[in-house]
Amino acid sequence: MRMFDIIAKKRDGGVLSREELEFAVMGFVNGQVPDYQMSALLMAIYLRGMTEKETAQLTDVMAHSGDMVDLSAISGIKADKHSTGGVGDKTTLVIAPIVAACGVKIAKMSGRGLGHTGGTVDKMEAVPGTQTAVDRERFFAQVNEIGISVIGQSGNLAPADKKMYALRDVTATIGCVPLIASSIMSKKLAAGSDCILLDVKTGNGAFMKTLDDSIELAKAMVSIGQHNGRKVAALITDMDTPLGHNIGNSLEVIESVEVLKGHGPADLTEVCYQLAANMLYLAGKGSLEECRRMAEEAVASGAAYEKLKQMFAAQGGDVSVLDDPDKFQKAKFSRPLLAAESGYLVRMNTEMVGNASVCLGAGRITKEDTIDFAAGIVLHKKTGDKVEAGECLATLYADHEEKFAAAEEMFRAALTFGPAPEPVPALVMARVT
Ligand code: URA
Repeated sequence: MRMFDIIAKKRDGGVLSREELEFAVMGFVNGQVPDYQMSALLMAIYLRGMTEKETAQLTDVMAHSGDMVDLSAISGIKADKHSTGGVGDKTTLVIAPIVAACGVKIAKMSGRGLGHTGGTVDKMEAVPGTQTAVDRERFFAQVNEIGISVIGQSGNLAPADKKMYALRDVTATIGCVPLIASSIMSKKLAAGSDCILLDVKTGNGAFMKTLDDSIELAKAMVSIGQHNGRKVAALITDMDTPLGHNIGNSLEVIESVEVLKGHGPADLTEVCYQLAANMLYLAGKGSLEECRRMAEEAVASGAAYEKLKQMFAAQGGDVSVLDDPDKFQKAKFSRPLLAAESGYLVRMNTEMVGNASVCLGAGRITKEDTIDFAAGIVLHKKTGDKVEAGECLATLYADHEEKFAAAEEMFRAALTFGPAPEPVPALVMARVT
């Protein structure tokens, strides 16, 4: 077999066999296939696409390029979820404990913030003392003992994806459904859970900006999971507006606790219930309606909040900050942003709002940056709200006053006002199974 022939076959619109995909991907991981040949193949895939079966096989080959986590040492059904990334998206911290409190195991590896979007591992580390680098043995033991652990990605998970993603990033081959779907799903398959719920964000703060593109990506990922023997479903959820009111790491932990205590913002609460119900449904806990009720009861009884506290305590976190958010370290400075005019807030450029939060220190601009856990934004007005001149639109938090100017400029530029309200997108737009 020659890489040259594999590239030519895809260039001419052919369908690659499993053996050919294995030759290309494993050769690339082992250093036998050079960057320039893999780049050419990625561009051929970008231009010619892949069949469902081909995409599923590519994903399986990528997943098997490193460790396949074997969760069989953990009893019962294990469920995972993946968000394609958003602003204010703290749903994992809410739904993982809900699902665990309903008896489905969560052995989850999460990521850090990327670009304008936040990451669960960074949010968890905002709780002082929390360990997210946990060895496999302790990870399994914790899930067996209390039913839940969320840690950072560890081991050698899907190294083919890491190398291929780095090439895609510099060869204009990121925005291609089979490549995005195989990239995300290779890591999910390698992480070992039986059920995987995908939260595909759509809108101006999401990776996928339109509903059609989001549905296409969701269908590709669901098909990959099903071809590889996992129970998978996807919800398409709105990211035209940040989720909830709080953006930034400590701020998002505080808001997650509010949802688990039954008094979180309506949009975040609703999305969390729908995600949790779908995870429980995939795990075979009943009909969607029964699963929704189960999720609501886990919050109403306090069981889900207790599960969150158990998880943080087991990972070394100081849970007193969850009970009393005033104990979180505070940002040194805050700046209220007042509305200059009256009207309706008709649009928020969510990516710009996320970037404003990164400017304040809540995310990384370079890989080496450290996160300021207290930095971020609390939104007092969101898309659809009526605003009077002089009302507070948002409060910015940072440890250095000089960070406010750029963040304020970006935040204000992200908002569009109009004389009348305009329709806002539904929170959950589609379900793909
Ligand atoms: N996230 C991933 O993990 N991979 C992609 O290709 C895009 C988003």
